[in-house]
Amino acid sequence: MSLTTKIGSLTLRNPMILASGVLGTSYSTLRRLYEAGLGAVVTKSIGVHPTSGNANPSIFALNDIRSVISSVGFANPGIQVFREDLEILLESSVPTIVSIYGKNKEEFSKVVNGLKDLSIKAFELNFSYSSTRKDGAQIGTDSDLVYEIVKEVRANTTLPLWVKLSPNVNEITEIASAAVKGGCDALVAVNTLKAMVIDIQAKIPILGNKRGGLSGAALKPIGVRAVYDLYEQFEKEIPIIGVGGIYRGEDIIEYLLAGATSVEIGTSLGVAYPENMIKFFQMKVKKYMEQNEFVSIDEITGGAHK
Ligand SMILES: Cc1cc2nc3c(=O)[nH]c(=O)nc-3n(C[C@H](O)[C@H](O)[C@H](O)COP(=O)(O)O)c2cc1C
Repeated sequence: MSLTTKIGSLTLRNPMILASGVLGTSYSTLRRLYEAGLGAVVTKSIGVHPTSGNANPSIFALNDIRSVISSVGFANPGIQVFREDLEILLESSVPTIVSIYGKNKEEFSKVVNGLKDLSIKAFELNFSYSSTRKDGAQIGTDSDLVYEIVKEVRANTTLPLWVKLSPNVNEITEIASAAVKGGCDALVAVNTLKAMVIDIQAKIPILGNKRGGLSGAALKPIGVRAVYDLYEQFEKEIPIIGVGGIYRGEDIIEYLLAGATSVEIGTSLGVAYPENMIKFFQMKVKKYMEQNEFVSIDEITGGAHK
């Protein structure tokens, strides 16, 4: 039995990848999580300029639904400082995917050009930032803009490009088609869902930014459906990476059956000993494979499409 999986030209030792941002702010943490058994890690999204992020509180736990609402913004040290830290991580051979955000194609290209000489495994394009277009809507909701940016970035690098899709759209396959047409190598579904939480005594939204994004268990059925829809549209034409609400090994299997070749995991690893969670996920996936006589991840992918 083998847990290895392929995402285009990239082979991972298993399908579990750290999702961007939740824990990926310190490089020692990224390395520790890889050593605990992940297949790869995605960094926090990085942009051209240093940014301090949104007002506190920026994260609020919704324990009753094992979820989190957050609006950390794009707090990051800017490309120069980021590059120095990244080089340290890459020295320890951790398969690393760099997440990038920007306002427009010029900003995306600047970050790619500043990092593409490093031994990173792929870029993941995060389109949840507001564009510089008149309405300022999130880039990931506009298929023309998604196409334009992916095409531009594609022209700037030969490294694999993953596009992370937003669930805040009417038809996720339309945005995905624009990304595929632009030349991306994998689709990642999904980012956080627009959400809010209100303090009923103070009678105001709890997050400093008022509005935030939902992650954690409540997001899982939304992510699973997105992956299922994408697989129905693209089948094996493009690899799909499932994200949202993975708390158990069984959740990983669900994403694989929906059509994913691998998964990203975020919120559930925000515990005191994420290493134990990772080992437990792996054990559960192996057990399911044994019980169902699967010998490879590839055999599970898309199995729910009959
Ligand atoms: C605190 C926090 C910070 C995040 N930062 C980023 C980020 O920088 N870039 C990004 O693409 N997604 C970011 N995300 C979204 C996650 O990568 C992931 O798509 C989402 O949380 C759903 O997965 P999960 O339910 O396993 O957490 C963030 C999520 C949280 C909760």
